[in-house]
Amino acid sequence: MRVFVNKVIPDLGMKLMQDAGIEVTVWKQERPLDREEAIAYCKGHDAFLNVGQKGVDADFLRQCRHLKVIALHSVGFDNVDVEEATRLKIPIGNTPFVLNRATAETALLLMLTVSRKALYMHKKIAFGGWGISQPTKDLGMDLYGKTLGIVGLGRIGAEFGRMAGRALGMKIIYYNRNPNPAAEKELDARLVTFDELLAESDVVSVHTALTEETKGKFGREAFEKMKRSAIFINTARGGIHHEKELTEALQKNVIWGAGLDVTDPEPMHPDNPLLEMENAVVFPHIGSATKETRDAMSRLAAENIIAGLKGEELPYPVNPEIYEEG
Ligand code: DGY
Repeated sequence: MRVFVNKVIPDLGMKLMQDAGIEVTVWKQERPLDREEAIAYCKGHDAFLNVGQKGVDADFLRQCRHLKVIALHSVGFDNVDVEEATRLKIPIGNTPFVLNRATAETALLLMLTVSRKALYMHKKIAFGGWGISQPTKDLGMDLYGKTLGIVGLGRIGAEFGRMAGRALGMKIIYYNRNPNPAAEKELDARLVTFDELLAESDVVSVHTALTEETKGKFGREAFEKMKRSAIFINTARGGIHHEKELTEALQKNVIWGAGLDVTDPEPMHPDNPLLEMENAVVFPHIGSATKETRDAMSRLAAENIIAGLKGEELPYPVNPEIYEEG
């Protein structure tokens, strides 16, 4: 049995697959594979361990309908046409649970960094701009006791709420399609409408999947409904905010600041004005990028590959309905 892996993953996952007798081919070059190359590789393999490969659409899947499993090295699965995979009975697996803390820590880091303009302050020293400290200069904002509005109070959103509540005494409100009573109880969180969340939050943090419903949800209209003193954080997917309208909102002081771990497109172009702004911080999609978390993700992805190649149910399936009778 042969698996194709489109980027270098931690040894832990590699070893698990090799110990299970699976032959592993890894694309090690620094440039990402294009869609046609990925299809060609998948055609010569029985399984695909997909690290952020874009373009796994209906046509890709039809050409690779022989695949016994596609294991994603991510919790998000917006880069695969899961509906079509389900029709073709290709099991798709992901890596839930293990990246909640690392991603929530990234949101916390962005929130703190933006609230004190920390990255800009660092750059200022490097450019010789420390100058004379004035009591009225370089002021950030307190976070303690402020209101955090979480859009998408799932596992990662709840973890961030926990951190912000415990460390910073922040009050939590949230907007979800379905209420999350367990998290409400634990975090003393309150379910509100989207507009209420925008109006009441000092920090708005996005933790929802990218879907037709959430695509571009944060554009001019949403930013105008936020407090002028509010911070916008996105560690979920770049497509959820409208980048040009966010840039304008920051330039015109419609909102106070923004912290992004995700952009659209990725990678962000080095000329992007957000990278030069005092009140914006951008990371290159590093939410899950810790040694411990990436090891754990490679383990879950390998477990999905091993089960799929054995013809067993995936331990972490995205489309479990393919196992239903009929
Ligand atoms: C995920 O796992 O979905 C992270 O965003 C990495 O892509």
